Amino acid sequence: MKKPKMPAAKAVPETPGESSTALSKSVGKGDATYELPWVEKYRPKFLDDVVGNTETIERLKIIARDGNMPHVIISGMPGIGKTTSVLCLARQLLGGDEKLYKEAVLELNASDERGIDVVRQRIKGFAQKKVNLPLGRHKLVILDEADSMTSGAQQALRRTMEIYSNTTRFAFACNQSNKIIEPLQSRCAILRYAKLTDAQVVKRLLQIIAEEKVEYSDDGLAALVFSAEGDMRQAINNLQSTWAGFGFVSGDNVFKVVDSPHPIKVQAMLKACYEGNVDAALDSLRELWDLGYSSHDIISTMFRVTKTIPTLSESAKLDFIKEIGFTHMKILEGVQTLLQLSGCVVRLCKLNMDPKKFQTK
Ligand SMILES: Nc1ncnc2c1ncn2[C@@H]1O[C@H](COP(=O)(O)OP(=O)(O)OP(=O)(O)O)[C@@H](O)[C@H]1O
Ligand SMILES: [Mg+2]
Repeated sequence: MKKPKMPAAKAVPETPGESSTALSKSVGKGDATYELPWVEKYRPKFLDDVVGNTETIERLKIIARDGNMPHVIISGMPGIGKTTSVLCLARQLLGGDEKLYKEAVLELNASDERGIDVVRQRIKGFAQKKVNLPLGRHKLVILDEADSMTSGAQQALRRTMEIYSNTTRFAFACNQSNKIIEPLQSRCAILRYAKLTDAQVVKRLLQIIAEEKVEYSDDGLAALVFSAEGDMRQAINNLQSTWAGFGFVSGDNVFKVVDSPHPIKVQAMLKACYEGNVDAALDSLRELWDLGYSSHDIISTMFRVTKTIPTLSESAKLDFIKEIGFTHMKILEGVQTLLQLSGCVVRLCKLNMDPKKFQTK
């Protein structure tokens, strides 16, 4: 009987034959790079490669060089490099020694059980363990996504952090630092990461684009930056999805992948509002609605586009944003109808109309 041609075989035989053609694509030498998500493939290994938040990263670099790391909390929005920088810091502190890293770093994230028992046993056990480290270096407990730890577990850490502080240091990463109890905050240096700027996202994307030989247009790049809103992970994922799906990164393709209203269309609608052209504005809205976008998608794109329309004066932008903000609030409360959006659009039109037209006697 013929052996089934399973691509699971680790070593692909060099023998020529029908199987090799099909296999070579998925299991050939390029397979690992081909299949790895780019966010992981291009996760920075050293603090030098982490873009943005320059001042904070500089501080971390000094810590990595000199050792004696304080307890730290790194907080900020998703996908801006918190986990990455803690891992880089740990690696650099221990001089890139993999064996030492395994011994001296305890990494726990939200997928691990981190209740009070784990704090009592695993973390305490790790803190008590003896590891030979160079002078000025400490064992490191990384608690990623620490805002999901129960307050009981956080309470249990308080004394542990103090008692073993001469051998063990803690690094917390979280989205909301206020979910970390006050006593822990007071024991740590708090580093806040800001969202990445458009220029920083573009810089990193261009590096990846060059590395992966992606074909792109400038509006494609702009679309990636626009839709990511400072979230590097999102930007890289969208780049990869667009490239994999369409083979070319253009603005239109990106918005198809992201599945959010095209800002050009939204911009046209807002322009009509600014010119007081009610019918045109409502028609554009209707068009977006018929394309199947939810009111949440539409209103949040309206908000982002308003911020970037160059022709709108600063005060007009503020008026628009206020109105859009109120509607957004109502939509979040659950009133997600076309009527709600139409009301918003019409009120935006009214802002620039002659008030006399609305006077009643
Ligand atoms: N500042 C950055 N510089 C370079 N790449 C980055 C940066 N921030 C994020 N990335 C990319 O995004 C991926 C995810 O980043 P990371 O895991 O550090 O996010 P995070 O801030 O921990 O987010 P979360 O709050 O969701 O855990 C990384 O693998 C990397 O490819
Ligand atoms: Mg993280």
